[in-house]
Amino acid sequence: MSVTRCGTPRTAGLDGVAAGHVDAPARLAGWDTPPMTGTPNDRGRAAYQAGWRIRHAHPEDARVMGRVHVEVWREAYTGLMRPEALAGVDPEIGAQRWARILAAPRPDGATTWVGCTPTGEVVALASEGPARDADAPTAHEVRALNVLRSAYGTGLADLLMVDLAGDGPAYLWVVEGNDRAVAFYRRHGFEDDGGRKVDERLGVREIRMGRERSPWAGDAASDLDGAARDADGGRGLGPSPVVTGKGP
Ligand SMILES: CC(C)(COP(=O)(O)OP(=O)(O)OC[C@H]1O[C@@H](n2cnc3c(N)ncnc32)[C@H](O)[C@@H]1OP(=O)(O)O)[C@@H](O)C(=O)NCCC(=O)NCCS
Repeated sequence: MSVTRCGTPRTAGLDGVAAGHVDAPARLAGWDTPPMTGTPNDRGRAAYQAGWRIRHAHPEDARVMGRVHVEVWREAYTGLMRPEALAGVDPEIGAQRWARILAAPRPDGATTWVGCTPTGEVVALASEGPARDADAPTAHEVRALNVLRSAYGTGLADLLMVDLAGDGPAYLWVVEGNDRAVAFYRRHGFEDDGGRKVDERLGVREIRMGRERSPWAGDAASDLDGAARDADGGRGLGPSPVVTGKGP
């Protein structure tokens, strides 16, 4: 089994944990690496070949996730959300929340992911799981996808979508006016299905988007494992570095 890492080694010790840029090679060594749940597109494939990585989040990520989450929101939602709501988001509170969430497997089977630069810095977080809406159009929900602006357009978001949504049916909510996100999801086969909800606290209306199938489903030419083997001189990097790959 081969495992790709996402984050810097734990040689930094507790300082590294405090800095939030930590991987856990000891634990990773024991991780299973089941096949990816979906088919990557060309952008995801290129990102993987360039060294961008995704993996399940673990508790040591909580601090950096709190920070990244707040930064992503400020970058993406300034002008879309109520300023008071945005001003109230706090990296420390976020970190505590992530620590609680990641302390144990989520009861409903949802999974949380991080995405890293080729140098191992966490710059994205994401989650997926069973639908949380009683009237959901599909059983599977892409719950969050948050990438720092510095990683926009790199293919990291495409790479995350491979495991967030698999190749099959899924739905998600996107803030009205978040045109970049809407364009990205449309590229991944999602369309506005007419579902709407309002978050009074944040002062936003949300649009529901759904799809039946990934545009790349069954596209053998986009097989990431094959790409990884090619990039690795035939040794094979193995499938995506996940603990319990979970598809829709
Ligand atoms: C949404 C997100 C995951 C997309 O990832 P990304 O790497 O930025 O996406 P890409 O660059 O691959 O694709 C974005 C597309 O939107 C287009 N775009 C950019 N700004 C746009 C705008 N204002 N209006 C319409 N399209 C726009 C880009 O040109 C690109 O189009 P293309 O497919 O023709 O290349 C990422 O931007 C992000 O995390 N944003 C902040 C948080 C967020 O909004 N998350 C979604 C919550 S539902």
